[in-house]
Amino acid sequence: MRTADREARPGLLSLLLLLAGAGLSAASPPAAPRFNVSLDSAPELRWLPVLRHYDLDLVRAAMAQVIGDRVPKWVHVLIGKVVLELERFLPQPFTGEIRGMCDFMNLSLADCLLVNLAYESSAFCTSIVAQDSRGHIYHGRNLDYPFGNILHKLTVDVQFLKNGQIAFTGTTFIGYVGLWTGQSPHKFTVSGDERDKGWWWENAIAALFQRHIPVSWLIRATLNESENFEAAVGKLAKTPLIADVYYIVGGTSPQEGVVITRNRDGPADIWPLDPLNGAWFRVETNYDHWKPAPKQDDRRTPAIKALNATGQANLSLEALFQR
Ligand SMILES: *[C@@H]1O[C@H](CO)[C@@H](O)[C@H](O)[C@H]1NC(C)=O
Ligand SMILES: *[C@@H]1O[C@H](CO)[C@@H](O)[C@H](O)[C@H]1NC(C)=O
Ligand SMILES: *[C@@H]1O[C@H](CO)[C@@H](O)[C@H](O)[C@H]1NC(C)=O
Ligand SMILES: *[C@@H]1O[C@H](CO)[C@@H](O)[C@H](O)[C@H]1NC(C)=O
Ligand SMILES: *[C@@H]1O[C@H](CO)[C@@H](O)[C@H](O)[C@H]1NC(C)=O
Repeated sequence: MRTADREARPGLLSLLLLLAGAGLSAASPPAAPRFNVSLDSAPELRWLPVLRHYDLDLVRAAMAQVIGDRVPKWVHVLIGKVVLELERFLPQPFTGEIRGMCDFMNLSLADCLLVNLAYESSAFCTSIVAQDSRGHIYHGRNLDYPFGNILHKLTVDVQFLKNGQIAFTGTTFIGYVGLWTGQSPHKFTVSGDERDKGWWWENAIAALFQRHIPVSWLIRATLNESENFEAAVGKLAKTPLIADVYYIVGGTSPQEGVVITRNRDGPADIWPLDPLNGAWFRVETNYDHWKPAPKQDDRRTPAIKALNATGQANLSLEALFQR
């Protein structure tokens, strides 16, 4: 089902490169617009300066499309009924940010929340973390636009500021407060890839009421709070989530690279780089690394072949982009 689903999409559009290390500058494909969001502003207000750059009719149309395509009717009805009760179980600043944007756009809180949940079940991607021969860590991921062009137009690179300084950065969509891709300069990088287990909505809604959080919110909270690679890995591995996911994390020092396979309650597997034993890269798509990739959706083997062909000594930003 997922394969058919993906074939109907416009395909993978871009590879983003994440670098936490000093001395290497990140290259990226035709850049999305870049905005500052100040974390010193109240959650309800901090996104409004960004929204002012957008045609709100376009944003509303995109949101309606996401909900129409991705949210089962029963979920839409249910969330409409329980949203105020549910809001009390959701953490700040996420609910405040969603509410603030939503009020600004004259949308219902239920719809805005659903948009923020819907993309969680649609992130089909490939992430790679690798170490070159000099010990530099590279972290690349492609971005999948499951809703086509309309989200492409709403993609933004956000610099989250504290006291006027960049605290962390990430790529997201207007209206979407979580991050699937982000970096904390000179500390670490994180990307998330979906790990689908079926009954997504049933499980996710039940888990929200147990104070588990969406996977993209945990990436953002980790970027906001964790001081280094190790702390980030610990937080990403242990914090209760509403869905399974793969987290790929890169650091700034040799050997700081890992794929965390998450269950809702905790880690299912931790798969670090092991460059001293020849494992100088890890590739994660949307399947458990210890099982074969399904033949109808094997994005893993081509990525490994390309990395093998490049070789550790020749790894570079350009090499990763050319895959
Ligand atoms: C929201 O609704 C109010 C009152 O209905 C209206 O005055 C305002 O212009 C609307 N705002 C937007 C952004 O559409
Ligand atoms: C964003 O914040 C950075 C860091 O403070 C600053 O250098 C830059 O000028 C800001 N950009 C805009 C558009 O305000
Ligand atoms: C990040 O930190 C600031 C305070 O420095 C806080 O106000 C903000 O809401 C935090 N959380 C996220 C997820 O950005
Ligand atoms: C990549 O290289 C490793 C180490 O030489 C080898 O074990 C593996 O089979 C290669 N994989 C592919 C897909 O070429
Ligand atoms: C690196 O690239 C060069 C030129 O493409 C090639 O000759 C060399 O064999 C490569 N090195 C490795 C270790 O793959």
